[in-house]
Amino acid sequence: MQNHILVTGGAGFIGANFVHRWIATEGTNVINLDSLTYAGNLNSLDSLRNDSRHSFVRGDVKDQDLVAQLLRKYRPRAIVHFAAETHVDRAIVHPEEFIQTNVIGTFHLLEAARRYWEGLRSDSHSRFVFLYVSTDEVYGSLGPLESPFHETTPYAPSSPYSASKAAGDHLVHAYYQTYGLPAVITHCSNNYGPFQFPEKLIPLIILNATRGLPLPVYGDGQQVRDWLYVTDHCDAIRLVLAQGRPGETYNIGGCNQKTNLEVVNVICGILDELRQRAVGPRHSSLITHIKDRPGHDRRYAIDTTKILRELGWRPTEYFESGIRKTVEWYLQNLDWVNEVVTGQHREWVRVQYASAS
Ligand code: NAD
Ligand code: DAU
Repeated sequence: MQNHILVTGGAGFIGANFVHRWIATEGTNVINLDSLTYAGNLNSLDSLRNDSRHSFVRGDVKDQDLVAQLLRKYRPRAIVHFAAETHVDRAIVHPEEFIQTNVIGTFHLLEAARRYWEGLRSDSHSRFVFLYVSTDEVYGSLGPLESPFHETTPYAPSSPYSASKAAGDHLVHAYYQTYGLPAVITHCSNNYGPFQFPEKLIPLIILNATRGLPLPVYGDGQQVRDWLYVTDHCDAIRLVLAQGRPGETYNIGGCNQKTNLEVVNVICGILDELRQRAVGPRHSSLITHIKDRPGHDRRYAIDTTKILRELGWRPTEYFESGIRKTVEWYLQNLDWVNEVVTGQHREWVRVQYASAS
């Protein structure tokens, strides 16, 4: 077995940040399997183009033969499974793609991993780890005064996206229980930072605001999310990979609950300052309340006690500095935005936000 790791979905938002951080800190080889859906972009990995520690393979996690071939060829010591369909609004419109990738794809990856792991010699066999990157959304929605999600909180997914991720969790857990596959699951809250596809709230608001377009806020905007800067999530995953116990679940969160309206207003304030709008119309004047998301979860929050106690992880980035860095990153990387935004995305925006314009 080699010291390599196989990452799936490493051309997406968190995956690309993870690959960059892994190579910068661990310095060992990454095999990056990604089918390059609309959300996957090689431009996010541009600076690794000539780095021999990064091998990109375009392929689908549902292609079990391809995964088996990659495992035989590279003999990785771990698989970190990010690849997924991830946008809740798209899951409402096109749920099938979510079942295909998040459930069937996770199954095929697990099957290939199990066969590979069963064939490893004893030291490699005991070192191997399968890490499934899941989401806090599997726990459903919290009331305003309820305690944050704990690892033992019952599953209650409310969207086709969160249900498909929960199904993935159950498969991973079943492979641990039934076959002994050394698997760990992480449940993280909302991430933000560089390379996030502009369908998600924070980049969408930054880019619409800079273009003078309406800032669409679903319903009353009082829904709460627990925001975590993406590199903090990447560091938590590295730690779980190194020290997490097989069969365990670790919750990862920002300890930073904000309503959507608060987030949008903070972004507007930063843009007012950066784009010298001290006088004249403020960016917040573009805020437009639109029809709510069906089945919209009201509040997510994560209890990070376990990962802090067992692995010593805690978030390091303050929201105030992280969001400022994120706004600046998007303003400085409009070329990246223009490369990743396709006609298909423009059509999605046109239909999804028809009532906002
Ligand atoms: P993303 O949508 O930005 O990227 C997903 C990546 O997976 C893309 O590169 C895409 O091309 C790839 N992909 C999709 N289907 C594939 C398939 N069938 N085979 C191979 N590759 C495929 O997603 P993200 O926001 O980076 O999320 C990554 C993971 O983290 C997901 O599993 C998601 O559920 C989880 N997660 C995300 C957040 C968040 O706030 N973004 C929070 C918690 C957990
Ligand atoms: O909690 C983790 C999850 O966070 C991940 O598992 C998902 O993959 C990721 O997409 C994210 O899900 P959310 O639905 O919370 O993220 P999104 O950025 O789509 O929306 C954040 C909040 O903002 C949510 O309450 C919906 C709201 N929203 C979103 C959009 C796109 C708006 O009000 N207007 C919008 O236009």
